[in-house]
Amino acid sequence: MKTIRTKVAIIGAGPSGLLLGQLLAKQGIDNIIVERVTGDYVLGRIRAGILEQGFVDLVREAGVSERMDREGQVHDGFDISYYGELFNINLKELTGGKTVMCYGQTEITRDMMEARAEAGLTTYYESSDAAIHDVTTDSPYVTFFNNGENYRLDCDVVVGCDGFHGISRKTIPAEKRTEHERVYPFGWLGLLSDTPPVSDELIYCKTKRGFALASMRSETRSRYYLQVPLDHKVEDWSDERFWDELKKRLPEEAAARLVTGPSIEKSIAPLRSFVCEPMQWGNLFLVGDAAHIVPPTGAKGLNLAASDVAALYQLLCKAYRENDKSVLTRYSEIALRRVWHGERFSWWMSNMLHDFDEQEVGGMKKATFDHFMSSELDFFLNHREGRQVIATQYVGMPYESIE
Ligand code: APR
Ligand code: PHB
Repeated sequence: MKTIRTKVAIIGAGPSGLLLGQLLAKQGIDNIIVERVTGDYVLGRIRAGILEQGFVDLVREAGVSERMDREGQVHDGFDISYYGELFNINLKELTGGKTVMCYGQTEITRDMMEARAEAGLTTYYESSDAAIHDVTTDSPYVTFFNNGENYRLDCDVVVGCDGFHGISRKTIPAEKRTEHERVYPFGWLGLLSDTPPVSDELIYCKTKRGFALASMRSETRSRYYLQVPLDHKVEDWSDERFWDELKKRLPEEAAARLVTGPSIEKSIAPLRSFVCEPMQWGNLFLVGDAAHIVPPTGAKGLNLAASDVAALYQLLCKAYRENDKSVLTRYSEIALRRVWHGERFSWWMSNMLHDFDEQEVGGMKKATFDHFMSSELDFFLNHREGRQVIATQYVGMPYESIE
């Protein structure tokens, strides 16, 4: 057994772990990341790409913003197509100047991985059997197996950045945590293609055939999504079928100018709302997807991970500066306040924009009660105050400052 020591042991090299590690290292707080798969595997996951200002600021503070600032596109707003009628949510105008940045999660993750390697910070990729021990004591540690050797990593705190399927959350005894969950009766079929985006802003489409989203990664790369029933398989959807269905769900003028091409990635993701309370247990802290999941409709997944990182980063800095770990007990409460906002907004957007009559997604729908209730969106879109409520939440609630 090889024994090593660090201040902060981080499980998972996704965006949460990498961002926290980079921020802490800049403040001289050493940390080691233990990751189950290879860096390339992490980068192979295609995820959303809308960054709130709070996230952008953190990436700048971590000193990893050079490429994002050069290549990321600032979006002043987005469109919602309501049964073919287009409504612009002008974020900038409705929020007094706030915008979002469009820059893929894959890109930001790559930038942070490179910065970590350049700074000589340690990441144990391809580690198996990670286990967290003694977190209710002052000397917690993590064990794992890497490259033929067993390791013991002694630390002050363990941060679980290991996503929804990780081990960290389950380390909290079942009777000490409450899990709130809602699953949705449909999934999102995503397609990535090297074609110019159909519009320079995102278009969220509510249609009788189900939801669709036109998004992008750059001026030459598009990302589109279709609501599909949960029992559909990627193999059921040839590129041709995807493009045909997308054209039917986009507003008419957009459909007419849509440029199609071969897919470079296609996958189906289920939609879930999930929160684990509390987000800490002794000296174990959960960050990002390890503690909560949102359906992608509000583009909040990565942004909620970022606000967890911001809170824990500030608390850890304060704890080390003042040599007093007791401030860390505030983490879960602070993080959860913002998480619940994001959960509610994502749930609301999902309810408003999808069609819940799952039997008939893709065909004509019977009018259901939920369908009539989602006409609340009609009211929001047709009133400035309503659009402002959407815009204020889309750009993100402010982070709590920690004194
Ligand atoms: N040991 C080590 N690493 C693990 C383990 C384990 N037992 N289990 C999972 N991991 C790693 C995964 O391989 C992954 O690289 O933890 C990482 C978790 O990364 P993400 O799932 O991307 O979670 P997070 O960093 O919190 O990112 C949140 O990314 O998942 C999206 O929608 C989400 O946008 C949000 C953001
Ligand atoms: C994406 O580009 O993948 C994306 C954008 C906005 C969302 C969800 C996904 O709400």
